[in-house]
Amino acid sequence: MPVDAIFETGKVYLYIGCLSSLFFSCILRKNLKYQSIMSDSYSISPGGEKFPLPKPEAYKTEFDRLKKRVDQERAKNREIVVVMGVGFVGAVMAAIVADTVDKNGNPSKFVIGMQRPSARSYWKIPLLNRGVSPVKAEDPEVDPMIARCVNDKKTLMATYTYDVLKLADVVVVDVQCDYLKEDLGNVRNGITDMAALESSIGVIASHISPDALVLIETTVAPGTTEQVAYPIMKKEFKKRGIESDPLLAHSYERVMPGRNYVASIRDFWRVCSGINKEAKERVVKFLNEVLNTDKFPLTVMDRPIESETAKIVENSYRATILAFLDEWSLYAERNGVDLIKVIQAIKVRPTHSNMIFPGPGIGGYCLPKDGGLGVWAYKHILGFEDDIFKITPMAIDINDTRGLHVGQLTRDALRNMGQPIAAADVLVLGAAYREDVGDTRYSGSEIVIRKLAEMGAEIRVHDPYVEHWWEFEQQDTYPGEGLSKARFFRNQEKLKEVRIEKDLDKALNGAEAVIFAVRHEAYLKLQPDEVVKKIGQPAAIIDCFGVLTDDNIRRYFKLGCEVKGLGRGHIQRIKDELRKT
Ligand SMILES: NC(=O)c1ccc[n+]([C@@H]2O[C@H](COP(=O)([O-])OP(=O)(O)OC[C@H]3O[C@@H](n4cnc5c(N)ncnc54)[C@H](O)[C@@H]3O)[C@@H](O)[C@H]2O)c1
Repeated sequence: MPVDAIFETGKVYLYIGCLSSLFFSCILRKNLKYQSIMSDSYSISPGGEKFPLPKPEAYKTEFDRLKKRVDQERAKNREIVVVMGVGFVGAVMAAIVADTVDKNGNPSKFVIGMQRPSARSYWKIPLLNRGVSPVKAEDPEVDPMIARCVNDKKTLMATYTYDVLKLADVVVVDVQCDYLKEDLGNVRNGITDMAALESSIGVIASHISPDALVLIETTVAPGTTEQVAYPIMKKEFKKRGIESDPLLAHSYERVMPGRNYVASIRDFWRVCSGINKEAKERVVKFLNEVLNTDKFPLTVMDRPIESETAKIVENSYRATILAFLDEWSLYAERNGVDLIKVIQAIKVRPTHSNMIFPGPGIGGYCLPKDGGLGVWAYKHILGFEDDIFKITPMAIDINDTRGLHVGQLTRDALRNMGQPIAAADVLVLGAAYREDVGDTRYSGSEIVIRKLAEMGAEIRVHDPYVEHWWEFEQQDTYPGEGLSKARFFRNQEKLKEVRIEKDLDKALNGAEAVIFAVRHEAYLKLQPDEVVKKIGQPAAIIDCFGVLTDDNIRRYFKLGCEVKGLGRGHIQRIKDELRKT
């Protein structure tokens, strides 16, 4: 019974083999969690296509197929790279590696994306094998690059069997490592969930050849590579009678899904380190081959904990400068100040050019959790008892609760139009965590909607990039049982019915309040006359992201609407001026 068949059937087998019982129970727990989300016999892509999960008997045939293919590729002098986890990072990283050419312009890598066959994620494998990207992004490079590597260059494929690891020269680990918060707005009360990462490392060590390089790209709690991954690998190697040290390295991703998705991986600076001299040399060689390091040179750190810490500090810094503007945003609203113009005025100073308006919350997979990984690691991996962290947790807590204020603005705007928020039809424009991407993880819009639902509003949502908003549709089980943010609010049951409306005209029709929650390009161009015509009546307009120009704000007022905005205190002044004329 291959280990991955455990995932596939969801049954309890007395197969512990090379895994520790703790590790086994983690896999099983995770597996059962995923099994309960959807059917246990097939996986459904966001586009609605059903893919039957592989049966236990399919694994051998799959491995034979891979082996044959790998033998052919090796004969062409291609290095075999397995990318574990073909999510937002892994899918595009796999394509970039597969696109690599040598000095003569010939493909030098053969890449196999490896994805566990859970009901939630298996669909990514057949899609990738067709040359279709499992992630949706605005970057025009993503789709053709994946199609080219799979169908033309034939340097990329995907599989579900862990046995593929036996064939790897390099394994790139792009699985998730989560930070689970127990409260809303208190990051200290949380834990790092590294079950997927620990199980991946165990499986890798039980399959790979001892001289394969294992590159962890996952953002981890500092200390993980040396104090969690290394001991797991060492133990597995020992069981297999392998004396040598694993060639373990860390290099974090700085990917920005969006218009520059590919470039943010390939044409961007990287930091890396290795557990020993050989691992360090191997990771430097690999990254120099697959990334544009001529223009964006590598930074090589002495130890993996330094590379891991760099990622955490980098994102804590970003979370902090964003959180910093929250109090000034409230200040601006209460004192007739437009914070958007204040920021523009300050940003002309080159030293302050990275100031950015925070919007209704800081989402994405990284900024809400990475500081938490650092604070947690200080105690639970590195073993300190004192509490030295003040700014990082406070910043994350501010960012996590910033969206609540949008509920108040919407309530007040509707009240000014003589309408209570309870039972009002509220349209939220944008579900994604940032502009022009389809990723809803930790999006500020989720908090906005949960607060509005708590206050009794009826919710509709439009987003050009998001197909399903699992945080609502599957809130009983997604992102895990008992983990939905629904638990921090009352009146959340009906949000399971939230569906993304793709037709903007339909979404607008009859809405009583419209919230500009994300700066998607499609929303920046919307003109007040057009919006009000499509709504069919004046409505409350809430600007969470500095989307509205002063002319547009003025026009909305003239059309009978009420306007409010995060950090946009000057709106009241515009309203007063219009009243006087
Ligand atoms: N998304 C971003 O913008 C971003 C940016 C920088 C860094 N990162 C980091 O990169 C890492 C991956 O993030 P992501 O956004 O790609 O996550 P993701 O959830 O989109 O992808 C992770 C994938 O790994 C798969 N997986 C989990 N366990 C597995 C196993 N045992 N074997 C094989 N596959 C397995 C999952 O099914 C999933 O497809 C995280 O540590 C994240 O913090 C993400």
